[in-house]
Amino acid sequence: MTSHPPIDARKSEPHTTRAIWVEGPIVPRKAALPPKSSCDVCVVGAGITGLTTAYLLAQSGRSVIVLDQGEVGAGETSRTSAHLASALDEGFVRLEQLHGSEGARLAAESHCRAIDTIEIIVVRERIDCDFRRVDGFLFLGEGSTVSSLAAEADAAKRAGLEVEWLDVPPGPVLAAGPCIRFGAQAQFHPRRYLTGLVRAIERMGGVIHTRTHVTEFQGGDDAHVRTAEGAVVSAKALVIATNVPVNDRVVIHNKQAAHRSYVVALEIPRDAVPVALYWDTADPYHYVRVERPRAGDHDVLVVGGADHRTGDDLRPEGRWDQLESWARARFPMASRVIDVWSGQIMEPVDGLAFLGRNPADAPNVYVATGDSGHGLTHGTIGATMFLAMIRGEHPPYESLYDPRRISLRSLPTLAKEGWETAKHYADWVRPGDAKSEDDIPAGQGATLLVAGRRLAVYRDLTGRCHRLSATCRHLGGVVHWNAAESTWDCPCHGARYDRKGRMLNGPALDDLAPAEIPRAPEPVLVVAGDSAE
Ligand code: FES
Repeated sequence: MTSHPPIDARKSEPHTTRAIWVEGPIVPRKAALPPKSSCDVCVVGAGITGLTTAYLLAQSGRSVIVLDQGEVGAGETSRTSAHLASALDEGFVRLEQLHGSEGARLAAESHCRAIDTIEIIVVRERIDCDFRRVDGFLFLGEGSTVSSLAAEADAAKRAGLEVEWLDVPPGPVLAAGPCIRFGAQAQFHPRRYLTGLVRAIERMGGVIHTRTHVTEFQGGDDAHVRTAEGAVVSAKALVIATNVPVNDRVVIHNKQAAHRSYVVALEIPRDAVPVALYWDTADPYHYVRVERPRAGDHDVLVVGGADHRTGDDLRPEGRWDQLESWARARFPMASRVIDVWSGQIMEPVDGLAFLGRNPADAPNVYVATGDSGHGLTHGTIGATMFLAMIRGEHPPYESLYDPRRISLRSLPTLAKEGWETAKHYADWVRPGDAKSEDDIPAGQGATLLVAGRRLAVYRDLTGRCHRLSATCRHLGGVVHWNAAESTWDCPCHGARYDRKGRMLNGPALDDLAPAEIPRAPEPVLVVAGDSAE
C-alpha cells in the first residue's frame, strides 16, 4: 500500500488536495466589474450549473453576467469523479417509494436528457473534453442481496432506462455474483468542458468575473446583487449556482446534509480495464471509472467512496487508504497512486436535487443545490429548467425538482438528518479537540475551549498559531479541523473554510472571524488602607 504523505512531512504549508482534472486555471477574458452594470440574468457561481445556465441563456439571446468568488470551476465541479449517469445513486426502488413510479421515470428521463444536452453542447461547440458514451455496471455490495439487485433492475427498467441483467460480468468484477448493465451512460473531462463553455459564453457576449465575492442578494422588481467591493449588478432574474445557496439561511439547508466523499487515482496499464462506469450497492457505495491521460502510455483508475457526514471524522486521511486497499483487491494491475482528493456531496432527504425558485424569496430568484452525487447532470437539468422558467414556460420537471417540496415519505429521513444537525450544536458545551495550543502539532489545527470561548487554532510549519473564532458564520455551529484537506468544516450544514478561515463553501457567506486567546484576568492588588471612602 502506498502511504499518503502525512501533512507535517510536506515541504510547504498544507493545502487542500487537487483532483487530476485540474491542469491550470481557466481564465475568462476579464475586464474590471464597473460600479454599476445590468443584464437580463445575473448568475452567481461559475461551476457547471452556473456556466451551463449562462451558456443556454446567452444562446437564447439573453444578456448574462456570471460572478464567482473564486476561479472558474474551482469548486465541486473540479472535485467530481466525472461520471455522467442516469443510473441514480439513490436507486430506483427508493425513488419509486419517495416520488412514485412517474417521479422515478421523470428522474431517469431528466438525467438521460442532461447527458444528451452535454453531448449536444460538446458537438456544437467542438469542445475537446474526451466526452464518451460508456456502459455502467452495478454490482452487489456488502449488505445487499441478489433479490434486492434484481428489484433494482426491474425498477430501473420501469423508469425507462436501458438495463440488462448479467449473471456473469463481462469485465472486471467488483463483487461476486451477477450485475446490472446500464446503457447510454457517459464520462468526460469536466475542466475541459468548462473551458469550452467559457469560450462559447464569451463569444455570445456573456461576461464572467472571477474573484468577485457577492455579499448581498435582492430579488423582485429591483433585483440585484452587490459585491464585497460595492459593485452592483442589476438583473431581471438571479440564478444562485453556488453548490449550496448562500442567499438562503435556513429553508433549504434543513432538507439536505453535507457529506465528504474520497477519491484515489491509481495508474493502470493501458486497456487493462475496459472504459466504463462501475458501482456497487454498499453503503457508502464505491464508484470507479477509467481515465485516459493525453500524455504517457497508461490509464488511470479513478476510485471513489468512503463517504461520511461533513465534520464527523476528524482524521479522515485513512479513508484514502481504505479505498486504495479496496481497489488493489479488485484491480491487482494497479500500480502507483497518482493523486488523492475529496469532494463535498449535498444529500437531499428525498434523493433528488432542488432546482427552481428559491423558497420564501421573490419569484425571479432561482437556486440549484442537493446534487446527491450527480452534480454534473443535476446542474445541467437545472440550467435547462432555469432557461425555460425565465422564458415564462413550465419545464416538465418543475414540480419534481421544486425546492419548496416536502415529501411526506421523506419525513423520517428529514427528522433523522435534523437530529444529526441539532446534536452538533452540543459541541458548544464539549471540551475542545485539544487541551492547549501546545498539543497542536505543526501543520495541524484543533478547536480549543479557552475561558469559555471556542477557538479554531491552526499551527503553521514555522510554529506560529493562527487563531480564529470557531463559530461558523452561517448559523453558529462549531467548526472542526479536517486533517485531510487542511480546512475548517462545519458539521451542521457543511460550510467550509480554509486554514486561515477564508470561506470555501456555503451556506456561510463570510470568513471565520479572527480571535485571540483571552487573557487571564489581572490579579487585583489590594493595598492596606486603600479605601474608596
Ligand atoms: Fe450552518 Fe455552520 S453551516 S451553522
